[in-house]
Amino acid sequence: MDVLIIGSGGREYSIGLALSKDENVEKIYFAPGNGATDALGENLAISDFNALADFVEKNGIELTIVGPEAPLVEGIVDVFKERNLTIFGPTAKAAQLEGSKIFMKNFLARHGVPTAKYIETNSLQEAYDFINTMTAPIVVKADGLCGGKGVIIAQSQDEAKQAAGEMLSGNSFGDAGTSIVVEEFLDGYELSVFAICDGKDYVVLPAAQDHKRLLNNDQGPNTGGMGAYAPTPLVNDDIYAKLDERVIKPTLKGMQEEGMPFTGVLFIGVMVVNGDPIILEYNVRFGDPECEELMPLLKSPASELFYKAATGDLANAKIEFHDKYAVGVVMASKDYPYKNSEPAEIIIDDIYHEEINENAHISFAGVSRGEDGKLYATGGRVLVCVGIGDSIKEAQQRAYMLVGQVHYAGKQCRTDIAYQAL
Ligand code: AMP
Ligand code: GLY
Repeated sequence: MDVLIIGSGGREYSIGLALSKDENVEKIYFAPGNGATDALGENLAISDFNALADFVEKNGIELTIVGPEAPLVEGIVDVFKERNLTIFGPTAKAAQLEGSKIFMKNFLARHGVPTAKYIETNSLQEAYDFINTMTAPIVVKADGLCGGKGVIIAQSQDEAKQAAGEMLSGNSFGDAGTSIVVEEFLDGYELSVFAICDGKDYVVLPAAQDHKRLLNNDQGPNTGGMGAYAPTPLVNDDIYAKLDERVIKPTLKGMQEEGMPFTGVLFIGVMVVNGDPIILEYNVRFGDPECEELMPLLKSPASELFYKAATGDLANAKIEFHDKYAVGVVMASKDYPYKNSEPAEIIIDDIYHEEINENAHISFAGVSRGEDGKLYATGGRVLVCVGIGDSIKEAQQRAYMLVGQVHYAGKQCRTDIAYQAL
């Protein structure tokens, strides 16, 4: 089959890479793709949903996979479904699980899924009253999509009130912040759990751990994610079982009952507190950089997983994973996450090293192809070096061996990815 992937990041590159090794897949298109995805398939400069659906129809593309949340929240799946085209991802209604934190929190409360105690409000007085009952740290969240920046962890009641005031007045996040969630701080360790869902059935992928802070030892500002690894030994069978029974099953059942069955990736942001999984948030797409580690762990053909999920047929799929570990190290540009950096030419050592060639690879993200045909670092997160191994240590060593072969001006990365597991 031919497949279209919507998006332009390392996440979409890694899905494309998995599909490029799948014998059921002939041609891969990316819209818009990046400066490296054209080596895996063809980049399309189309963004309008109906124009994309026209292209899919005309070219007989059997499956479309949506990477990022924005087109999902804007309803790309609804447009494709109306035209009877097979697409992997939730409808706009179901994507509210990520698009609105208030929708998500109220949904969790309605269906008894464990989450931090909270209020949702658009009234400053109500926010103040609730904050007055809490002890710091206190978490204040803008309702809408803020590119991962809409969460403030306040260290005092005053700081929480200030954050609430700035959000509600529209000063900090515009319309996305004119309603807010104020919630209790959860103290535990954080996991990224992904369930591929077809509306009723699901497949849980190996649990991953992201590294959101810029610097080693989880210091510095929050980023989109500086590296991840999977599976993490921090999840045991007991936690997987609790996630199934307390979280995933009631969520899929609840979405069905409320008339918006969930198809696509349910990304469960989990805090494990005293052995119990408590939900921080849902996203409706793969994490980036988690996807870059999960795709190479998939043993079954990627097309089978995505196609069967998109067509409501997961009950008939037998999805298997390699009994291995993957570690991914993000290489970012000089001024990430503060501002854009000057384009910098990427040079990858042309040295054959069997261990690296067979057990490590790059997923390209913020890269562009120059007119000279060379690859340039042009985005915040430039690429992810992924190592695979029989242990986390081995996978980590291989990822960092590959990091050592990649050069561009101002490159920066963490040197401790997966430290919590070692
Ligand atoms: P979110 O966008 O809701 O995932 O929040 C971003 C990050 O803030 C999460 O990945 C957590 O590290 C942190 N966070 C959010 N909510 C809480 C909470 N209630 N307690 C502790 N940390 C939180
Ligand atoms: N890596 C976290 C995210 O994609 O939101």
